[in-house]
Amino acid sequence: MYNSKIIGVGRYIPKRVVTNFDLEKMMDTSDAWIRERTGIVERHFADVDSGETNSYMGAEASKIALKMAGLQASDIDFIIYATLSPEYFFPGAGCGLQQKLGIPGVGALDVRDQCTGFIYALTTADQFIKTGMYKNILVVGGEVQSTGINLTTAGRDVAVLFGDGAGAVVLTRTEEKDKGILRGNLHADGNFMKELSVENPGSGTHPFVDVEMVENGSIFPHMVGRMVFKHAVTRFPEVIRETFADAGLPVSDVDLVIPHQANERITEAVQMRLELPREKVFRNIHKYGNTTAASIPIALSEALEEGLIKDNSLVCLAAFGSGFTWGASLIRW
Ligand code: UT7
Repeated sequence: MYNSKIIGVGRYIPKRVVTNFDLEKMMDTSDAWIRERTGIVERHFADVDSGETNSYMGAEASKIALKMAGLQASDIDFIIYATLSPEYFFPGAGCGLQQKLGIPGVGALDVRDQCTGFIYALTTADQFIKTGMYKNILVVGGEVQSTGINLTTAGRDVAVLFGDGAGAVVLTRTEEKDKGILRGNLHADGNFMKELSVENPGSGTHPFVDVEMVENGSIFPHMVGRMVFKHAVTRFPEVIRETFADAGLPVSDVDLVIPHQANERITEAVQMRLELPREKVFRNIHKYGNTTAASIPIALSEALEEGLIKDNSLVCLAAFGSGFTWGASLIRW
């Protein structure tokens, strides 16, 4: 059995900044409400009409990750792309990324686990490397939320939360025993499928899509915000503790927790419940909002740039989101 470790990280943030004040012009909301309830100050929206699509952003983030890894795209053996917002209903964004990187023939797997997507993708990649099937895997999280949310007062509870962007990591085989991904845990509870979902279009209705769905708003995300919040503040600490226990390490050993950036109040609650100092729990939600599957790799790339992760650092990535799904990954850098 091999181990896997991250040797390259990159991010792509769309150029267009959308502040809370910009949202005030589109719907009945306020900068004060958004800041107080979520910690978000601004987010970025992609210009898809000019080609700033999900897989374009994923490819740009991947090029940076490849450069840091000292690899060419042709060195990549497999792609795993986590997203809930591929540019086509099918095929997946992984195929779009592969085409943009010019590596036809390389397998491309899309992961549909929303805010936990990157943890599912990374943990899956780790297994492929551990068994020796692949050597270098590109793991990407990318989202274009801005074209799929209801940017009017009717959709304000969801619309103010989300932003666009992409992050990528290169995961490679290592013979080092105590380095790289130490443990990963993945969970889901489908009893809560509807509490954070987009119901239509989907194959469960006939016809697949019609005007009524557009008119009744079921094409937009629906969220029972308080219930999501309540579960998130329980599941985040639970899965982090589980993952440390599996690795035989105390949570207090952690150098940096990078939680999925869902809401500053959720991050705050997780930090308190784990009894960690503020500087050990990474935050950048104020700049980007919730970028779903992209939020962890974007945060990881910023944390590295800020010098918060060094050789031998113990880093814990964790997420909770639609499904409900939740998971964590523990890494010795
Ligand atoms: O990765 C997982 C993704 N999702 C999440 O992490 C979301 C988790 N949930 C949350 O973060 C919070 O539930 C929200 C931030 C979404 C909402 O905060 P809340 O404190 O739970 O507010 P609420 O939904 O109970 O709404 C309070 C009030 C309501 O008005 P009334 O009924 O008290 O008059 C809403 O209509 O705030 C109103 N409201 C808004 N007002 C201004 C809801 N959205 C907005 C808005 N601007 N954008």
